[in-house]
Amino acid sequence: MTFAPNSLHARDIAYTVHPYTDLRLHETKGPLVISRGEGVRVFDDDGKDYIEGVAGLWCTSLGFSEPRLAEAAKRQMERMPYTHIFGHRSNEPAIELAERLVRMAPPPIAKAFFVNSGSEAIDTALKLIWYYNNARGRPEKKRIIARRRAYHGITIAAGHLTGLPYARTGFDLPMAERFFHVTTPSHYRDGLEGESEEAFADRLALEIETLIRALGPETVAAFVAEPVQGAGGVVVPPTTYFEKVQRVLKKYDVLMVADEVICGFGRTGNWWGSETYGIQPDLVTCAKQLSSAYLPIGALLMSEDFYGVLADQSAKYGTLGMGYTYAGHPVAAAVAVETLRIYEEDDILGHVRGVVPHFQARLKKLAGEGLVGEARGVGLIGAVEIVKDKKTKAQYAPSSKAAAVVGAHGQKNGLIIRPLPGDSVGVCPPLIVSESEVDELFDRFEAALKGAAEALKGAA
Ligand SMILES: Cc1ncc(COP(=O)(O)O)c(C=O)c1O
Repeated sequence: MTFAPNSLHARDIAYTVHPYTDLRLHETKGPLVISRGEGVRVFDDDGKDYIEGVAGLWCTSLGFSEPRLAEAAKRQMERMPYTHIFGHRSNEPAIELAERLVRMAPPPIAKAFFVNSGSEAIDTALKLIWYYNNARGRPEKKRIIARRRAYHGITIAAGHLTGLPYARTGFDLPMAERFFHVTTPSHYRDGLEGESEEAFADRLALEIETLIRALGPETVAAFVAEPVQGAGGVVVPPTTYFEKVQRVLKKYDVLMVADEVICGFGRTGNWWGSETYGIQPDLVTCAKQLSSAYLPIGALLMSEDFYGVLADQSAKYGTLGMGYTYAGHPVAAAVAVETLRIYEEDDILGHVRGVVPHFQARLKKLAGEGLVGEARGVGLIGAVEIVKDKKTKAQYAPSSKAAAVVGAHGQKNGLIIRPLPGDSVGVCPPLIVSESEVDELFDRFEAALKGAAEALKGAA
């Protein structure tokens, strides 16, 4: 260890286990310690500034210094710091939050079930889908279809749905044969030579139909999808994809679950990714930007039809045996309500729509950089896919860690961007980002790509 024994880094290494980190590498290199934030910027413990180009983990929509959220938390903490919502109890912030969520949710959503994270929202969706089909007298209808490179969380059930090997390797997953994965809707990577986006979408919808028929439609309960696959590499679906997929799902009575944990609350230029892509979900999972991530809170939103089946079944059993100590936590709910108020009062959606054309133009311009095979995105989210050869789309060997090299050069240039699977590098700034901050962000991104291109010269 190269750190002074009393330094923050040494203490961190001594006591913290870091998610998504090579722990041995971490011990020699030490963490980037972020000490404070201001708008879209964060500052490390040496005072160096970074544009937070991923809004933390795709979540701090209102940036890092929104005083109204701190005040909302303080007010609620002083008034009523905790009360639960089990067994016919509630609290005012949770009630207001449910009302607001249902009012703004994509149809036919009508009810909200509170959780504390995206993974919990997904786990809850799965348990309730199984409960729902038992209640409907269809105990066989339990299988779930997701996509490869999907990220739906990391708990045991959500980890089964996540279609990324790192979420399973070494963790004894999968444990159950209830989860199936189909092709990632990446036209760039998975489209065939000369295949149009529409033809690609036809092929993927047919793949899902073929799988449902092979498994037996009476055994398939739900299809779970992020409108834009975020952590799997910001994969934007090809045109007509969801329209065609939903036609198949309807035909076989398979529920559509939209995982809006990243896309929800304005990220794609509409309140929901479901609106952007014409999805009519039976269930919606959301978290992250629900509270601008200032406090952990999420929700599973459901249609009236789905709720009605749960309600009848709970009457039969005498209770809905499902809930969390911190569900509808009044302080987290108060912060989420304040977040939604700010979205409305400051017309965040109008702001996002104003900045998007410039953001997307600067993003697409990155395709001109030597390392970039594709620059893709929608709204205020995007990624570049790093390739060794633009023509053949050949990638660097995994040992070259090309996306991580770009990420490291971003950090050097004062920009936080996120290396993702498939050698993609994601960008997803706070929604409050201004046009001039978009320019600064992409100036730094270009510098990072140039620096990385130098560093990767001769790499395998
Ligand atoms: C689409 C999606 N679903 C679910 C999750 C899991 O959320 P959490 O990390 O809050 O459990 C994530 C996390 O990034 C996500 O991106």
